[in-house]
Amino acid sequence: MNSDSFNVENLINIGYLLSACLFILGLKRLARPKTAVEGNRLASIGMLFAVIVTLADRQILDLRLVGIALAIGAAIGAVLASRIAMTGMPQLVALFNGFGGLASLLVGTATVLMALDLKVTDVDDAMFVDKTFLALGALTLVIGAITFSGSVVAFAKLQELMGDRGLAGLRSFALASTTAIVATSLVLVLSPSPVWLWLVVAASLLTGVFVVTPIGGADMPVVIALLNSFSGLAASAAGFVLLNPLLIIAGALVGASGLLLTQIMCKAMNRSLPNVLFGSMASGGVVADADDVYGGRITSTSADEVAMIIDSAQRVVIVPGYGMAVAQAQFAVRDLMRSLEARGAEVVFAIHPVAGRMPGHMNVLLAEAEIGYDQLIEMDQINPTFERTDAAIIIGANDVVNPDARENPQSPIAGMPILDVDYATTVVVIKRSLSPGFAGIPNPLFAADNTLMLFGDGKAAVEDISKALAEV
Ligand code: TAP
Repeated sequence: MNSDSFNVENLINIGYLLSACLFILGLKRLARPKTAVEGNRLASIGMLFAVIVTLADRQILDLRLVGIALAIGAAIGAVLASRIAMTGMPQLVALFNGFGGLASLLVGTATVLMALDLKVTDVDDAMFVDKTFLALGALTLVIGAITFSGSVVAFAKLQELMGDRGLAGLRSFALASTTAIVATSLVLVLSPSPVWLWLVVAASLLTGVFVVTPIGGADMPVVIALLNSFSGLAASAAGFVLLNPLLIIAGALVGASGLLLTQIMCKAMNRSLPNVLFGSMASGGVVADADDVYGGRITSTSADEVAMIIDSAQRVVIVPGYGMAVAQAQFAVRDLMRSLEARGAEVVFAIHPVAGRMPGHMNVLLAEAEIGYDQLIEMDQINPTFERTDAAIIIGANDVVNPDARENPQSPIAGMPILDVDYATTVVVIKRSLSPGFAGIPNPLFAADNTLMLFGDGKAAVEDISKALAEV
């Protein structure tokens, strides 16, 4: 090795290291809403850098095709990201995961084909007859194919292109196709032939479909986080196949962070991953009868009465939930917050980790309405402050404020961490009816002595309160 090639090799390794550092820094900054935009930028720069270093490493110096591919990819990314509505973000993430899976599926398939010496003849044979290499190629394509087909189904469900009903039977097919993956992969490695390769691909694609299809649409965010983790694992496996250390690192980061997010979501919903994948929400515990919980105990209120109560409040906590997203009430909520602040009240927002239907759902909506990150307080920090809160205004939240989770060990959501809004002096709940939330169970908070129910659409009700407040 001469000193020139030594220097180039060193430079390439330093480039890989720098990209990996940018990914890690980016990921760290993504953990806080305040620094997330910067984190995203750092990770994107890391990725661009990684592409450049990899091209130099592999001596791909004819950049015409690469330039065209980069331009097409950047254009598709820019159009998708600028057109997608905030509420469509889970679908977009599902698609991105799917693309990652597809890339690994292609890399894995090409590797096995090379090993079978069908596509490329000028390769180092010794390298490709290696069974370990063949097994790695098979693993890459299996994880990639499951991620790809599972993500396409997740996308279709979230886009409401397919429903949930009558699909539970597919679970038994999932077991059969998983067994088929193991069997065909083993034969492929022990006695390589193209027929077995295509059977592994088919069994893996079908497994993704069979596993994800029976899962309810509302559980899709958890599934998407899991598929995200899978796409990372697939990339890592592709990194071993392509002998690219950065792909291994980046894949491991995505794999680990996706798995952590899955775990956080499951914990915040007080459900196990098998329950999300193979069960249904209210499958355990005893569901109380709504008439027993609410009968004769509900106190309705009006926007005028709420305005009078909060006019003199010193501390108001607003608790947004899924209904705020449905009503698109975030701008009305911001105007109410400003009116209250103008009257000297302290106003903050209580953010539950699984309020809404996707991670960060409430943060995204409130950020859209330009509500400062400093005013969004997470569950663990806000809970001890409810006792000194004059009014808690709940807009379209239900399960995340259900005290049964804390008080009733028989409840299907027993043990789920909740926002302790019931400790506030007065609780105002804005929703259209006494219908249950995602968990499908009654909420004794609505019947509590210190709770007032303001029935109506979230946006209209908040606007009415603001109007009434202006007249107090
Ligand atoms: P939910 O418990 O689902 O309750 C939402 C409430 O919003 C409903 O009771 C509904 O009552 C009300 N609502 C709907 N449209 C409305 C409108 N236009 N105006 C006013 N209210 C409206 O919501 P949550 O408290 O945010 O809890 C989230 C649930 O989703 C949890 O059970 C969680 O485990 C689950 N989940 C969350 C995620 C993530 S990542 N966030 C993922 C999967 C599942 P009315 O019909 O009476 O109005």
